[in-house]
Amino acid sequence: YGVIGIIGAMEEEVRLLAAKLVHLEVIQLAGIEFMKGSFAGRQVVVCKSGVGKVNAAVTVQLLVTAYGAEAVLFTGVAGALDPELAVGDLVVSLDCLQHDMDASPLGFARGVIPFQEHSVFAADPELVRLAVESGEAVLPGRVRTGRVLSGDRFIADKAEVAALRRDFGGMCVEMEGAAVAQVCGMNGVPFVIIRSMSDKADGSAPVSFAEFTALAARRSCELVEHLLGRL
Ligand code: ADE
Repeated sequence: YGVIGIIGAMEEEVRLLAAKLVHLEVIQLAGIEFMKGSFAGRQVVVCKSGVGKVNAAVTVQLLVTAYGAEAVLFTGVAGALDPELAVGDLVVSLDCLQHDMDASPLGFARGVIPFQEHSVFAADPELVRLAVESGEAVLPGRVRTGRVLSGDRFIADKAEVAALRRDFGGMCVEMEGAAVAQVCGMNGVPFVIIRSMSDKADGSAPVSFAEFTALAARRSCELVEHLLGRL
């Protein structure tokens, strides 16, 4: 890969990586901060997208159009949907889906983007493989792969967790991954989403998120750092 784009939604999610860039150059485009530099001899652009699908989509398109990113990595935290996941565990995306896409009154199943061939976007198998290996190096035995669900809602309800698992087979839920995935797909750019669990998306999620986001963000970031060294 040439330039590698690395995105986090929040400050905690990109801070560690940004601190390690050399020859740093910071530019704002569309109000989004892009930090260009090198890391372990690689050309990277680290950026803080902001929260949600629109922010993530614009960020990815700018990474591709303005910086010529040839691969995109997303690092951040998520709510666990699989009951076997513990807070802190790492999830590497196999594919992504927008759980809040809903044109069901028109007869489309929830999650399906109308009049479009694909609504589930597959991560790059080689990036997935390398991310899992890096995850195992960072946190042995606590790395899973699966479907990442994204929507513009913070999930904090047990019944909703069950519904998301039942309807979409999600491993974890967050607010950007599937937008990143779709825009990467539109541009033919390989991607992988890497998430550490900050909460279980149930009633305790707001408190858990507040308590564990720093730790989870650090773990996800460590995985990405390790991965960068192997690309
Ligand atoms: N990111 C971290 N936890 C989340 C949750 N419960 N819902 C949506 N996004 C999240």
